[in-house]
Amino acid sequence: MSETWWRGAAIYQVYPRSFADGNGDGVGDLAGLRSRLPYLSDLGVNAVWITPWYPSPLADGGYDVADYRDIDPVFGTLAEAERFIAEAHARDIKVIIDVVPNHSSTASEWFKQALAAGPGSPERERFWFRDEPGEWRSIFGGPAWTQVPDGQWYLHLFAPEQPDLNWTNPEVHAEFHDVLRFWFDRGVDGIRIDSAALLAKPEGLTGRFEDLDEVHDVYRSWRRISDEYGGRVLIGEVWLPDQERFARYLRPDELHTAFNFDFLACPWDPARLRSVIERTLATHVPLGAPPTWVLSNHDVARVVTRYGRADTSWDHGDRRDGVPSDLGLGFRRARAAALLAMALPGGVYIYQGEELGLPEVDDIPGELRQDPIWTRSGHTVPGRDGCRVPLPWSGDEPPFGFGAGRPWLPQPEDWRKLTVEAQTADLGSMLTLYRTALRIRARLLGDGTLTWREHGPEVLAFTRDSGLTCVTNLSAAPVPLPPHEEILLTSGPLDEGLLPPDTTAWLM
Ligand code: NOJ
Repeated sequence: MSETWWRGAAIYQVYPRSFADGNGDGVGDLAGLRSRLPYLSDLGVNAVWITPWYPSPLADGGYDVADYRDIDPVFGTLAEAERFIAEAHARDIKVIIDVVPNHSSTASEWFKQALAAGPGSPERERFWFRDEPGEWRSIFGGPAWTQVPDGQWYLHLFAPEQPDLNWTNPEVHAEFHDVLRFWFDRGVDGIRIDSAALLAKPEGLTGRFEDLDEVHDVYRSWRRISDEYGGRVLIGEVWLPDQERFARYLRPDELHTAFNFDFLACPWDPARLRSVIERTLATHVPLGAPPTWVLSNHDVARVVTRYGRADTSWDHGDRRDGVPSDLGLGFRRARAAALLAMALPGGVYIYQGEELGLPEVDDIPGELRQDPIWTRSGHTVPGRDGCRVPLPWSGDEPPFGFGAGRPWLPQPEDWRKLTVEAQTADLGSMLTLYRTALRIRARLLGDGTLTWREHGPEVLAFTRDSGLTCVTNLSAAPVPLPPHEEILLTSGPLDEGLLPPDTTAWLM
C-alpha cells in the first residue's frame, strides 16, 4: 500500500477490553486480539485503530493514561504489542493507536510529582492548579475542578481522574513529541488524537474552552514529526459543527484527516443526509483532505438501535438511553447506511460489532456499569457501556467464545444469533454484507470523487470514479433502479426488481 493508504482506507476500531479475551480473565487483551487477526484479514479492513492500551486505572475506559510507554498488564506487555504490530503488518493491516493529549491520569508520574511538590512548583505547572476553583463544568457532569489535600484545585474537563494538561508549558509539548516518536519507532502507522480541539485553554480559564487558535501550533509540530517518519497518519477527534473551524485542522501542515461526526449525528433523512454529504465534500475537497464516514464508535449508541428509534439523530447531550427502538427497522437501515458510508469518497470507520449488527445493550445492571457518566450523573444517565459489551464470537451462550472467563460486562443471551460463527454461515447476515462490501470497496471505491444522480427527492444516488453507482431509497415506497448493467450488491432483497424503502444497491 502507498504512503497515502489512509485516504480511502476501511479502518476497524478495536475497543480492546471488549474485543477478545486470551487469558480468561473476562477482559479483552492483546493475546485475544492477536488470535483474531485472521478474522480482521478475512473481514477485509485496511487498518485497525486500537483505543488506549496503556497502563491506566481505567477511570474512563483507558482515556486516563498513566504511562504512554507501556501496555496495561490487563492487556499484555509492550513486547506483545510490538509482536501484534508486526503480525498486523504481515497481514497488510496498518495499526493506529490512540493518544490523549488533553488530559493525563491522576496515576501518572507527573501528577504524583505535582501533588508531592506542592503549590507554586514547576511540577504543578504541567497541569492547571489554582487556589480557587473555576466555573467550568465537567463534560461528564459535575464540577470540572477538584481539590487536593493542600487546598489547591486542579482542572479536569472530564473525570476527576483525568487532570487536564497545561499546553502553555513547553515540557508538555516535548513529552508528547517523545511519545509520538516512541510509537512511530515501534512501527505504528498513525495516531488518533483524542479530544483534539480542547487542548488550548483561554487565559483565566473561563469562557469557551473549545477550538482555541493556539491548538493548531501543536498539530503543526506533530505533522513535522509524522513527516519525518514518511507520513504516519494523524487523525483528529474533532467535534465541531462549524465546518470552517473544522477545516482548519485539515490544513496541509496539520492533521491528515478527522472524524466526520456530522454524518454520524445526522438523522436517517434523505435531505439531511444529502446536505451533510455535500457539506462534507465542500469542506474537504478544496483542502485535498479525504473525508471520513463514521456511523458509530465507543461513545455513541449502536447504529441498529439509533436507526430504529422515532428520532434517528444522535446528540451527546441527550443520549436517549432506553428510548424504545424498532430493531428490525434499525437493522434494515443500518445495512443500507453501511453500503452508503462505504461507497462515499474517502475513508470509512467500522466500530467493532457494527459488522455484526449488535444493538445497544440497555439492560446492564447499575452495579455493573463502569462508565463515569453513570456515576457522575448520580446514576441518572446510563452512559456508554451499552455499546461496549464484549463481542460474541461463537457458541450458544455467554461468553460466546469471547474468552474463558465471565465477560466484564454481561452479554445478552439472544446474541447467540449474532455471533461471528452464526453469521459466517448465513449468507444474509450483517457480517456477510460487510465482508462482501469491503471486498468490492477495495476494488471500486475509497478515495476519489462522486457525481450525484437525480433519482427523486427521497433517494440518494451517486456514481463513483470507477463507474459504481450507489443508490439508497429513503422514501416509504419502492423505487425503480437507475439504469445499470449489473447489480453488485444490495443491502436487502429487491421487491420485484424495485429498490424497497431503507435499502441501498451498488450497481455497475
Ligand atoms: C473521547 C473518547 O472517545 C471518549 O471515550 C473519552 O471519554 C473522552 N474523549 C475523554 O478522553
